[in-house]
Amino acid sequence: MRILIAEDDPALAGFVKKGLEAEHYAVDISADGEQSRAMASEFDYDLVVLDLVLPRLDGVAILRYLRTRKPSMPILVLTARSRIEDRVQCLDLGADDYLIKPFSFSELSARIRALLRRSHLPAESVLTIEDLKLDRVERRVERAGKRIDLTSKEFALLEYLMRNAGRRITRAMIIEHVWNLSFDTCTNVVDVYVFGRWQPVDSVRAAVVALGLQRMRDIAVSCSVLTLLPGHKTVVDPIVFWEHSLGCALVCRQFARRIGFSDPGKAYLGGLLHDIGVVAHLWVLPNEFQKAMALAQKNHIALHLAEKEVLGFTHGESGGMVAEHWHLTPDLISVIEFHHDAVNAQQHRDLVAVVALSDLLCRMGGIGYGYVEECEVNFLEEPAFAMLIEECSGLQTFDWARFTLELEGYIEEVRRLVGVLYRPK
Ligand SMILES: [Fe+2]
Ligand SMILES: [Fe+2]
Repeated sequence: MRILIAEDDPALAGFVKKGLEAEHYAVDISADGEQSRAMASEFDYDLVVLDLVLPRLDGVAILRYLRTRKPSMPILVLTARSRIEDRVQCLDLGADDYLIKPFSFSELSARIRALLRRSHLPAESVLTIEDLKLDRVERRVERAGKRIDLTSKEFALLEYLMRNAGRRITRAMIIEHVWNLSFDTCTNVVDVYVFGRWQPVDSVRAAVVALGLQRMRDIAVSCSVLTLLPGHKTVVDPIVFWEHSLGCALVCRQFARRIGFSDPGKAYLGGLLHDIGVVAHLWVLPNEFQKAMALAQKNHIALHLAEKEVLGFTHGESGGMVAEHWHLTPDLISVIEFHHDAVNAQQHRDLVAVVALSDLLCRMGGIGYGYVEECEVNFLEEPAFAMLIEECSGLQTFDWARFTLELEGYIEEVRRLVGVLYRPK
């Protein structure tokens, strides 16, 4: 079951989320009133935990709005306002329960269970497939009458699969619903997506409020990459190039954060700039580069391999020279030069490996250069992967298989994001 916590105190929201996830709920957090209202009306939450004091739109307004749109959605008000009048007002407006801060988590959890029991018919709360039974309210799983203990994620996965029994489920769907990746990602890709759908960003201030200054800066820097391309028509569609660069930047940063890399911002920049050699080729060698691109498209091979054949060198090599000429920092120069030849990088090998792997994941995930590359890639057998493990010994025990699965789902999100930002309907 999915719960939305509308709460602007990050520590409190994090604490409640952690506790509820331990009880097998899928939990989303929103710290902003307008965003909470939008999320609660768009998605089918089983319950909303609502703080009354929220930026941009207060809880009472959200409550009033949701009651007209979603009369049966359980709403539990969780607030520091302890006056009788506040309680009466909220209950009159349709809140199903009212809990005053400070509160004990066990009481909150019990009240949530009680609300869910009331709001779900027994048929909805217990899923049954043959002898397998999953009680969504009591959070119990039994097979042939024997209780099975599952972790939160296992429970959520089983629940999701049982609810969709007989339907085709993609990895991306599982990632989104079970791992909650959309809402956990540091880029808050879905926030951007959600915001873009409900409310046009009509001023810089509105954009900053909605997206956060950091993300606005990222977007501004990212868009400036587009201005590097020649103005005339080229063999690479500027949007395709931008998508690849931005996609790679986002994946790099996510990747860097998940493995505890020291500077995710630098990884983002590395991803964004790694292919500036392609830009150089478009400017300086347009005809030769066109031939290389045609060969790559015809044979469905990686662009750098086609360049090597036609030009005798790759965009990595020429990009390295451009980067030096531009006096970029040595780590970025290394990334740009060696992202297709990671094993030969002498310096900043961890950053190079992060970008090399992210680039590969993007290309394999459909955020490449506008054509399909046909090659079998096993991420875990890539030389750059071995390099990364070598550079960061703590990663040996990391759950890579699951992480690569997550990244694949993340790439779907990135594709959706760039679609929203750059391919408006
Ligand atoms: Fe490249
Ligand atoms: Fe690339």
